[in-house]
Amino acid sequence: MGVASAWARLFASPKEAERLDWGRSPLGFTTSDEARSLISRRSVETWLAYGNLRYPQFGLSHEGAALHPNAYTRSMVVGEHRHTGCAHPDRIAAAIEQGATLTLSGVENWDGDVARLCGELGRTLAARVQTTAFLTPPGHFGSMPHRDGTHVFVIQAEGTKRWILYDLPAGEDWDLADPPGEDAVTEEIELRAGEGLYVPLGMGHRALAGPEGSLHLSVMVNPPRLGEVVQAWAAQVQRTFGRHEHLPAGREDRIAALLETLRRIQETPIDLAVLAAAVESTLSIPEPASRLPWPLGSGSDGGVKGAAELLP
Ligand SMILES: [Fe+2]
Repeated sequence: MGVASAWARLFASPKEAERLDWGRSPLGFTTSDEARSLISRRSVETWLAYGNLRYPQFGLSHEGAALHPNAYTRSMVVGEHRHTGCAHPDRIAAAIEQGATLTLSGVENWDGDVARLCGELGRTLAARVQTTAFLTPPGHFGSMPHRDGTHVFVIQAEGTKRWILYDLPAGEDWDLADPPGEDAVTEEIELRAGEGLYVPLGMGHRALAGPEGSLHLSVMVNPPRLGEVVQAWAAQVQRTFGRHEHLPAGREDRIAALLETLRRIQETPIDLAVLAAAVESTLSIPEPASRLPWPLGSGSDGGVKGAAELLP
């Protein structure tokens, strides 16, 4: 079981999942029926009209340049409250008609099925798992060439999209802001509905929607960075210092004081349970929805007349 059970949620066949070369190579695959049916054009329309989404849960960009949210959001008065940043479905539709790509960020925050998938992947892989949906009109790119700081599983839900893959940076110290060069194309792959693509963390990419447009869900998998673990450890060590411990005034005695501090840190036992809990807290795994404190019955407990008894 282990991680294989996570891949089974995304891949149609365990054989294809076995070819996954984590962090090193892209991989095209057939998606599971569950993954493919997570989003649809219909559900996107429903979310925009009735999902009560607020900017920046949705956004529009044109060939990678963000459109100003004033152009596609509105205020709505509900009772005595003014809700700002609400979706303006007509303006969003008009912008898409003109070539804009719609992104819906964090679909797991409002859709139970996507939340369940993210929760199960997150628990199994011990990783932060989040999603973004992309709706791109025919013949348009959804973004400029770029790199992402997470591993991405693309699930093509409807239409087609041609993925252009660029280089994978060498080493661990590359910058997200360094875009891939146009001459660094390594592969092109066209995804049809029901197909998926694994893009390793950092691999440059951009994608062009086919003649029917494209709707895909990017499932972003982000195991804790080593830096986050060290930060959690440092916080643990920090708690062993007195709140008002300072280095001495002047520079002369500081080296000795620092060496003494390092010696103390070396002797401090690491509480693995606390460390693990701190790392776990970075995962933000969606919780199950059933957390209301009491069951709602259907009947009265006697003594007071029910509405039906008041009828003539
Ligand atoms: Fe991306």
